Amino acid sequence: MKVAVSGKGGSGKTTVSGTLARSFAEDGLDVLAIDDDENPNLALTLGIDRDREVPPIPGDLLKRVETAEGETELELAKTPDEIVADYGAAAPAGIRMLKMGEVDHAGSGCMCRAHSTAREVLSEVVEQREEVTVMDMVAGVEHLGRGTAKDVDTLLVVVEPYYKSLETGRRTKELAAELDIPDVRAVANKVRDEDDREAIEEFCADNDLDIAAVVPFDDAVRHADQDGTAPFDYDADSGAVRAIRGLADDLVATYVGTA
Ligand SMILES: Nc1ncnc2c1ncn2[C@@H]1O[C@H](COP(=O)(O)OP(=O)(O)OP(=O)(O)O)[C@@H](O)[C@H]1O
Ligand SMILES: [Mg+2]
Repeated sequence: MKVAVSGKGGSGKTTVSGTLARSFAEDGLDVLAIDDDENPNLALTLGIDRDREVPPIPGDLLKRVETAEGETELELAKTPDEIVADYGAAAPAGIRMLKMGEVDHAGSGCMCRAHSTAREVLSEVVEQREEVTVMDMVAGVEHLGRGTAKDVDTLLVVVEPYYKSLETGRRTKELAAELDIPDVRAVANKVRDEDDREAIEEFCADNDLDIAAVVPFDDAVRHADQDGTAPFDYDADSGAVRAIRGLADDLVATYVGTA
C-alpha cells in the first residue's frame, strides 16, 4: 500500500501523514515514511526527537550511464534497499524515514535541480519497496506531474473548510486523474463545527471528490506542536488522532486486508 498526502500549505499534510504512518506501524505493519517537502518536518510528527538531526538523501544518487546505443540514461547509484539501509532514519514503532534535501540558505541559488533529482530517487524507492509507504508531499499541485506520487494507490488531499484550500483539492483531483492515480480522496481537516463539515461536504459533492475522513480541529494537535512532540505521543486518544487512526484502519482494510 502506497499513500501520498497532498494539499495546500498549512492544511495539515504533515500531521495526517505522520499520524497515519504511526497508526500503521503501531498496528504491526512495516512502514517507510517519506518527507517529500523541501521544508521537511515529518520527523517530529513521527515522533523522532526534535534534537536529532535526520540527514537528507545525498544529491549524487543518480548517475548518468551510456547505453549500448550511445544514449544517456539515469540510473540509481544504489539499490532502493541500500538507500533505505544507508539513509533511512529510525523512527518510533519501527518506522524508517527518508527525506529529500532541504532548501539551502537564501541567495545560494536555485535548488530545483537537486529537488527533482531527489524526487526521482525517492520515486524509484517507493516503486520498488514492498512495505507500506506514506509520503508527505510538498504543498500545492505543481509537483504532482513529475514527483513521487505517480505510483501511489491512494492520494489523500487534506482540505480545510475554506475556499482556497478546497479549490486546491479540486485541482489535485483533476491532475491525479491525468496521472491515473486510482483513488483520490479528501481528508477534511480542522473541522470545528457542523458548518465547517457541511461546507466541505457540499464542495466535495459538487466536485465528485469522496471524503475519506473528517478530522476535527483539535487543541491537542496544537499543543503537541508547541511542545515539539508528535500528536500520537502527545495524546493518542485525542479527537484528531482518533480520526486519523480510523482512516488508517480503513486504508488497511481496503489495501492490505484484515486477515
Ligand atoms: N486537526 C487539527 N487541529 C488543530 N490544529 C491542527 C490540525 N491539523 C493541523 N494543525 C496545525 O496546523 C498547522 C499546520 O499543520 P501541518 O504542519 O500538518 O500542515 P502542512 O500541510 O504539512 O503544512 P506545510 O504546507 O507547511 O508543510 C500546524 O501548526 C498544526 O499543528
Ligand atoms: Mg508539512
